[in-house]
Amino acid sequence: MNQAFAEYLAACRQRADLALDRFSKQIHSEYSGHKDDSLSRRLYEAMRYSLLNGGKRVRPTLVYASAEALDPGCSELALDHIAASVECLHSYSLVHDDLPAMDDDDLRRGQPTCHRAYDEATAILAGDALHTLAFELLADCPGLESSQRISLVKALAAASGARGMVGGQFIDLSLEHHQPAIELLQTMHSLKTGALIRAALRMGGIAANANGEQLQALDRYGNFIGLAFQVKDDLLDIEGSTEVLGKQQGSDINNSKMTYPGLLGQGGSRDLLEQLLQEALMAVAVFGDKAERLRQLGGYIISRNY
Ligand code: IPE
Ligand code: IPE
Ligand code: MG
Ligand code: MG
Ligand code: MG
Repeated sequence: MNQAFAEYLAACRQRADLALDRFSKQIHSEYSGHKDDSLSRRLYEAMRYSLLNGGKRVRPTLVYASAEALDPGCSELALDHIAASVECLHSYSLVHDDLPAMDDDDLRRGQPTCHRAYDEATAILAGDALHTLAFELLADCPGLESSQRISLVKALAAASGARGMVGGQFIDLSLEHHQPAIELLQTMHSLKTGALIRAALRMGGIAANANGEQLQALDRYGNFIGLAFQVKDDLLDIEGSTEVLGKQQGSDINNSKMTYPGLLGQGGSRDLLEQLLQEALMAVAVFGDKAERLRQLGGYIISRNY
């Protein structure tokens, strides 16, 4: 990875971290005036524990990079709202993904999972609260037309519900112990992980006033890198180490998950990643030089080591 891109990734991550810290503090301080605020303190702590714990912030970075591909006319603060919103949604999905009823994992982002650090009920509720905070951040997105804010809410809702992440998670859990099959894997990965990645790109586009053709190009790019993101996650589950991943290596095998390496092997999955990257690069050719960050992010997604 070249130095300038490494600095760009670090800057986006820091920017997203600051926005998440500020917005999550804000809702707590709005509540803290109440005389019974100590009762809810544990819930806010669990939310912040799950949000501000060293995630890579890939989805916020995709929001910033897609807006950048389009010459954003919108404010930086609007993009911060959108970036934080997508990350709140993602963090909620991780808290619930780790629960005993789902993947039953003990380690996330290098720390005990939320239900381990707190308890199951608190983790469920902290996840629920992060989920709703995501939509509050969009409704409050400053400096955008109300029609844009509605489009943002629709994009995130569609990507995260039954037609998106939740639908994919349901298929994932239903297919444990099943023989891998290519169509099912593609559908499952595109939903459970691809949908939110596509939404992050589309939402950056909506804020930056993308036209229909530009939104389509972002969607196409998102289809390829969204699928690639989960194929790489499956590979890392085999090839990574618990220490570097910050989550339990081998969790998929322990849970008899249907994965790409399970179907194509590690070499076949790596070949697929290369193909998906090439398709993704073609999809953003229409943006010319302005898509440089999106191109670099595609390369990063398939080569990252955690
Ligand atoms: C992990 O996502 C879960 C998947 C959807 C594959 P990330 O790899 O983006 O996790 P964090 O946010 O960096 O911890
Ligand atoms: C999770 O997929 C996708 C989500 C929607 C959270 P995984 O179960 O493979 O994610 P990790 O490996 O636990 O991060
Ligand atoms: Mg899972
Ligand atoms: Mg998991
Ligand atoms: Mg995984």
